[in-house]
Amino acid sequence: RVLRGRPRDLAGRKIVVSAGGTREPIDPVRYIGNRSSGLQGYALARTAVARGAEVTLVAANVALPDPAGATVVRVESAAQLREAVLAASGDADVVVMAAAVADFRPAARHEAKIKKTDAEPEPIRLTKNPDILAELGERRREAPDGAGGACPHVIVGFAAETHDVLANGQAKLARKGCDLLVVNRVGEGLAFGTPDNAATVLVAGGEPVEVPLGPKEDLADAVWDLVATRLA
Ligand code: CTP
Ligand code: CA
Repeated sequence: RVLRGRPRDLAGRKIVVSAGGTREPIDPVRYIGNRSSGLQGYALARTAVARGAEVTLVAANVALPDPAGATVVRVESAAQLREAVLAASGDADVVVMAAAVADFRPAARHEAKIKKTDAEPEPIRLTKNPDILAELGERRREAPDGAGGACPHVIVGFAAETHDVLANGQAKLARKGCDLLVVNRVGEGLAFGTPDNAATVLVAGGEPVEVPLGPKEDLADAVWDLVATRLA
């Protein structure tokens, strides 16, 4: 699909987008993963390139071709995604965390493949992963005034909520210290890996914006409209 007729309102802006879902290793052959396809993150990257941005796409386990014009960094685990996002966001204007990041990882990674025996299996103990989005928000809050681009001007998060969408979303927006939170209404027959999405975009200090069910590129453009307003 050719992306025509977009404003070049992100020209000269450095934008980091994370996409896909992390995999947390259990042993050399197994992991804990999630169902994120990466389609929404890739739509964000493509539309940002079309609007003139310099885009770094941090892609976790995505089976999609690299979007033309973006720099793609491929990662697997939450720890790798964190390293790549923080490295790329140092001089970025905008960071969008569209990736599904595992909240927990196995506390220890087995060096050798876990073998089955006659005994019952050992439970896998989990430990918390760092919250990358919250970390970005915290860095910005703690940065001295006029830090000169040391942290992004606009930080965007995603959230999937099944109930109390607005209340849960507003609390998450405040907790994470981001500017925009794209809240997907899940449980309305919207499957992972579909080309369409519907969302409410919560805006810090502003009114929520409803984006009706449509192509993921439409939701991406709605996000960039709000980002461009905040950058101006
Ligand atoms: N996120 C992150 N690092 C994590 C977990 C989540 O950066 N370790 C980001 C996601 O990329 C997303 C946002 O935080 O942009 C919200 O993720 P979500 O899973 O909805 O929020 P959580 O705070 O993990 O809350 P919960 O899963 O309990 O609803
Ligand atoms: Ca989570």
